[in-house]
Formats: sequence, structure tokens, C-alpha cells
Amino acid sequence: MGDAPPDGIRYFAEIAASYDRVQPVLSPPYAAALEMIVELTPFDPEDPFEFVDLGCGTAEPTTRVLERFRRATGTCIDSEPEMLRIAKRKLTPYSGSVEVKEADITRCTLPTCDLVFTAKTVHHVHPGNLPSLFARIAGALRPGGCFILFDTMSVGPGWSAAVRQQSTRYRECHIQRAIESGIVTREEIDARREYKRKMRAAGKDVEYEHRAEDLIRAMKGAGFEEAAVVWRLFADTILLAFVPGKY
Ligand SMILES: C[S@@+](CC[C@H](N)C(=O)[O-])C[C@H]1O[C@@H](n2cnc3c(N)ncnc32)[C@H](O)[C@@H]1O
Repeated sequence: MGDAPPDGIRYFAEIAASYDRVQPVLSPPYAAALEMIVELTPFDPEDPFEFVDLGCGTAEPTTRVLERFRRATGTCIDSEPEMLRIAKRKLTPYSGSVEVKEADITRCTLPTCDLVFTAKTVHHVHPGNLPSLFARIAGALRPGGCFILFDTMSVGPGWSAAVRQQSTRYRECHIQRAIESGIVTREEIDARREYKRKMRAAGKDVEYEHRAEDLIRAMKGAGFEEAAVVWRLFADTILLAFVPGKY
């Protein structure tokens, strides 16, 4: 990782090689939330269905879905070539089932599908782009289709200092255990945080703190019939939404 803060989303080019190892350390609920995406997928293991993974990164969510649902086929979309390079390598065993596309999710056309999921990506989308993103997702989904959105967001009334403190303690204990197990080094974690700090200082931070209530309102405005918080661990939250149809 270089010293200079990156331009916008190219941050992911810098961290792609270490992403799969470091992301579950920096985000303690990450692995559990990806498993929840699989659990919340409203199909039986033998059902054939089509999905889209928005901001697929290194394809961690998609690989989990394909491990459970052998007959699923889909499209993985991300704007960062370095993340996609790793995704393509990991998806080699599923090459007949998945198409990997380089595109900006705030603009691209989405293929018709039964399920859209997105993990840890919507916080990179400007609030002004959410209504059109959700409208394109709702438009791509077949009747009764499902949207699973996992990301960091605020929900309901603000936290007290005690809850914030416990959230920080939970994360730091998790990181410390990963350091002790040799998964990451303290220097690596510090360097990543310093890099982010420089991004923010340079006004190049591309993260937004969305409120679950605003995301749900935007989803309903975009044509989703149902939209609700279904899972949460501190700020890591999963929203589940359906377009009108068979449900
Ligand atoms: C934190 S990573 C999450 C990757 C993956 N979903 C996961 O759960 O591991 C965020 C990803 O969103 C992608 N991304 C951010 N904004 C995007 C956009 N407008 N269009 C496409 N991809 C985007 C980044 O390139 C990055 O790969």
C-alpha cells in the first residue's frame, strides 16, 4: 500500500490482494453476514434461479451463494478491475454459471433476474444515486424477486456512548485475536487505518453513512413492496426487500 491517499474508488485496487484476508478482520460481522445472505436467499438448494451481485469485489458473497445453490446462475458487477481479477480466478470452478462484468453500478443496465444481493458496497453510493439504483434493481427483478442489501448503516435512534464504546471494544478484541493468530499484523491494520485517514483528510473518502430508514424509504419509492431490517450486529445490517409478485 503506497503512502499517498488514492483517488476515489481506486482504493480497492490498492487493497485487492489482501482483501479476503483483512476484510473479515476489520469487519467482525462480515463472515456471519455473508452466511446470512445465503440463509436469506429465498430458494431451495436445487432451484435454478438468476442472481446479480452488485459491487461483487473478490466474489466472496457470490462464491458462498454458488456453494449452496448449485443450479443458480448470475452476474457479478464491480468497477474495480483488480477486485474483478481476483473474483474471476475464484469463480473459475463456476465459469459456466457466472458472468463477471466491469461496470459502475450507479449507471449500468442490470440483467433480468430473481435475486439481487449487495454486500458492503452501498455505502460507496452517493445518497442522490440511491433512488435510481433501487429503481433499476426493482426493474430488473422478476415478479416477487428479492433484494438483499448488507452494509454498515445507522438504524433508529442514535447510540449512547456506552453502546459506541462496546462496538469499538468488540471490533478491537476481534482484531487483536486475529493479530495473535497471525492472520494480520498490527502494522498492517495501522497502515490501512492511516491510509483511510489520509483519504478522508484529502476529501477523497467515498463512504456515506446511510440510515436504514432512508434506504427503506428509497426502496419503497423505487417499487419495492416489502423492505425491512432483518439482521443486525452493531452497524452491520441486512435489509430484505421484495418487488410485488408471487409473495
Ligand atoms: C468493501 S468492497 C465489498 C466487496 C464484496 N461485495 C464483499 O462483500 O466482499 C466494495 C466493492 O464495491 C465496489 N464499488 C464501489 N462503488 C462501486 C460502483 N459505483 N460500481 C461498481 N462497483 C463499486 C468496489 O470496487 C469494491 O469492490
